[in-house]
Amino acid sequence: MTTDAIAVSSGRPFYITTPIYYVNDRPHVGSCYTTIVADCIARFMRLAGRDVFFLTGTDEHGQKVEKSAAEKGKSPQELADENARHFREAFEFIGSTHDDFIRTTEDRHEKQVQEVLKALIASGDIYLGEFEGWYDEGQEEYVTENQARERDYTAFNGKPLVKATEQNYYFRLTKYWDRVRKLIEENETFVRPAGKRSEVLGRLKDEARDVPVSRTNFSWGIPVPGDEQHVTYVWIDALMNYMTALGKIDEGFGGVGGSRQKYWDGSGEVVHLIGKEILWFHAVIWPALIMALEDAGRDDLKLPTTVYAHSFWIREGKKMSKTLGNFIDLETIHAYCDRYGLDAFRWYMLTQGPLSATDADFAYEHFVEVYNADLANGFGNAHSRVTNMIAKYFGGEVPLQEENADLGVDWPATIAQKTAEAVSAMGAVDVAGALKAGLEVSNAVDLFINETAPFRLAKDEANLPRVGTILYQCAEALRIAAVLMRPAMPDAMDAALERLGSPIRDGQTLQDLTRWGLLRPGTSVEKGDALFPRADAKDPEPSGVKTGA
Ligand code: MSP
Repeated sequence: MTTDAIAVSSGRPFYITTPIYYVNDRPHVGSCYTTIVADCIARFMRLAGRDVFFLTGTDEHGQKVEKSAAEKGKSPQELADENARHFREAFEFIGSTHDDFIRTTEDRHEKQVQEVLKALIASGDIYLGEFEGWYDEGQEEYVTENQARERDYTAFNGKPLVKATEQNYYFRLTKYWDRVRKLIEENETFVRPAGKRSEVLGRLKDEARDVPVSRTNFSWGIPVPGDEQHVTYVWIDALMNYMTALGKIDEGFGGVGGSRQKYWDGSGEVVHLIGKEILWFHAVIWPALIMALEDAGRDDLKLPTTVYAHSFWIREGKKMSKTLGNFIDLETIHAYCDRYGLDAFRWYMLTQGPLSATDADFAYEHFVEVYNADLANGFGNAHSRVTNMIAKYFGGEVPLQEENADLGVDWPATIAQKTAEAVSAMGAVDVAGALKAGLEVSNAVDLFINETAPFRLAKDEANLPRVGTILYQCAEALRIAAVLMRPAMPDAMDAALERLGSPIRDGQTLQDLTRWGLLRPGTSVEKGDALFPRADAKDPEPSGVKTGA
């Protein structure tokens, strides 16, 4: 994606997805993170005038879910229903604006996955074969001999790898290996960020191998059509969600008719946002499957534009794991939001999160530091300084500017530049960079107040026109800063805009809203409680009360 690709107000489709999350577990900071990032991008793109479709959901089949359910004395469907509900609630809580939530146990999904299997069995790209290899039970994947040796025959979760032999259906990945490598080599933005792209290209230098796409050792999955003792390997089932939710395989399923076809027909971008541990499936197996479907006659199906793999949140320097019990779980997230507000939590996730190639540390002190610097002492303080002065000197009405007053800052140029920076960063999935552009506008306002000292000038009534000019410029710049930061902090920025007498109206786009001079003199401005009350790191860290398994 380039800046051009997300040309504002174009109305072009933009499709963004998160991974679908396993229902053997409850949501936690990791699943919330990817969904918040996708949500922020979706909100920004909508504001920029794009026709957005944002998808999230749950991955409900597979051995892990079957086992987990058995341990809990539940049927897999019961566990799936229960945890899918937790994911839905969690995503509602974090303010996610997804357009659909797909569950892989839904009829619409299962039917289309079976159609895919039928088509690929018929074309010969899925065939019955025998296999022996090292199996990672936790990840539900085979690893090569080389990888097994490198990892000392240990699975991702620390348990030993097991040797397994199976008669399975296989996907002829070998046939598409070179095409996928070429795709990634020739297209610098197919896999992002760059470091992840190199990793995948490195792995593609290994010898090609076919991948099993069915299992017989458990039954919780989609039966392979025509050979029902086999169930579809969870990964193949899961990847298809990105298409089944749109009715791409068969628009007859899902009750959405053809209305979603446009989100993946080549006319816009399709961005899969994922965590780094599932990159191989998305960067290699997924495009290969789509190519195989094309070869099987489905040339209406297109490749995604970008697979973006972020890194991981860790906790005070350590990997988060169930064994260490150091997960930022939902209860902790609620406790943070109770104290600092959901918007502040989203801001921390989005500006400090692991979108780059390095992991990010979730640490309480750091949270407080960022909260105070960016929000309490940053935007919040600038906003209350400006609204207070407008109340005090101008009876709460946005003052007029003097004609041709030059106060040393070319605001229209600054705003145009920061807006362009935000648009281009967001187009490159640099969410923190995009938000920083908004914060820089608000920091510039603070500096401008310190330098022009309206509070001092106001002591002499003769200076009021000058004070008015200063405060008009401050209020207008803050309004635009709030617009730029709104995709991260919708409620707080709406409150900020409301107090500036400038709520966003339906149909207004980023282009309209970032036009300098939109704020009308005479508009009523309200001062109020601090938008972000200062935080004290000496307070104990917010911690949640557990509410069951
Ligand atoms: N069901 C598969 C994905 C199928 S997509 C076709 C799966 N599910 S999962 O529940 O394990 O979720 C994995 C995703 O959760 C990661 O890719 C990432 O998006 C998110 N995260 C899980 N732990 C995380 C962190 N500690 N930090 C950041 N995100 C992480 O894999």
